[in-house]
Amino acid sequence: ERGEYRHYMQKEIFEQPRAVADTLEGRIGQHGVLPNIFGIDADPVLDRTKQIHIVACGTSYHAGMVAKYWIEELARLPVVVEVASEYRYRDVVVPEDTLFVAVSQSGETADTLAAMRESRRRGYLATFAICNVPESSVVRESDLRLMTRAGPEIGVASTKAFTTQLAAFALLALDLGRRRGLDHTRYLKLCKELQSLPRFIESALRIEPQIEELAEHFILKHNALFLGRGVQYPVALEGSLKLKEISYIHAEAYPAGELKHGPLALVDEDMPIVAVAPNGPLLDKLKSNLQEVRARGGELFVFADEHAEMDDTIEQGVMVRLESGGEFISPAVFTIPLQLLSYHVAVMRGTDVDQPRNLAKSVTVE
Ligand code: F6R
Repeated sequence: ERGEYRHYMQKEIFEQPRAVADTLEGRIGQHGVLPNIFGIDADPVLDRTKQIHIVACGTSYHAGMVAKYWIEELARLPVVVEVASEYRYRDVVVPEDTLFVAVSQSGETADTLAAMRESRRRGYLATFAICNVPESSVVRESDLRLMTRAGPEIGVASTKAFTTQLAAFALLALDLGRRRGLDHTRYLKLCKELQSLPRFIESALRIEPQIEELAEHFILKHNALFLGRGVQYPVALEGSLKLKEISYIHAEAYPAGELKHGPLALVDEDMPIVAVAPNGPLLDKLKSNLQEVRARGGELFVFADEHAEMDDTIEQGVMVRLESGGEFISPAVFTIPLQLLSYHVAVMRGTDVDQPRNLAKSVTVE
């Protein structure tokens, strides 16, 4: 079933262009996001929504964090994202007309499901699920839903589930944006950009040989730091989670601006720093963060797009260039090299890639 691939994780990484294309199929076209894709009852709910609370665990939580940047920017709706295990036991303030969104690959994660059930008592406008398993509890118990179409995910480390969740959230962000006065020309441009996502994922996958080489630098490391800014910060978090999970290297992610508030103390020649640095308004800020790292001898691995200008100090590190496909879809595109990196580091370290120790694919107990 793995075919030509050595592990399910690798197969699932390479399935992403198809999985994302399937998730977009019949849901977005030339004129934008198609009607009724969130269910026939969705229109009045989405028109009324004034706030959004997104609840999930692990990788699905990181997808929610990306969605916060998108929805706040495009639809100007306040979004709160929280891990389900905290949300369910907290006395959450729910303003009027708040939409509850649960995100889950399996739809059976105990904390996410319990949070969703708890949300019923907290007076939300409605419950919306982004999920990969149609017959799951999360889907059955939600009012509105958008299914990801990743297909079965066997590897414990989530890959195609994440990028399809991003695709689903992008559809939601665009649809909410359109309802709430997003400039129509910009809306159409972003819709087009989203439709090109499978193609840019495909092109990111082609740099696998380069990533494999780069992975060798990590084999003997005990720690790694992942940096991103803005919408790439959750991408850095996801990259660090992948590395921890399957290669057992301690990794942490920081929004790069936080470096000097503590983690910079950890940086020395033994600390690899992975930076997600596509072009964008925050690139200059990130570059100065990276120079601080270089000055302390930290080994830099920078993922940048073809337009991002770097300077000599940063170029002394390892630079990987890929086509971002545009600022909107770039979080999904830049996720790919980070997945490949953790995969190859794990293979080289000889860990059980598809079944990492101590972890279960679906966490159905608290
Ligand atoms: C990480 C991973 C986990 C899951 C988390 C939530 O690679 O797989 O962090 O993302 O357990 O699972 P779902 O999405 O099924 O609710």
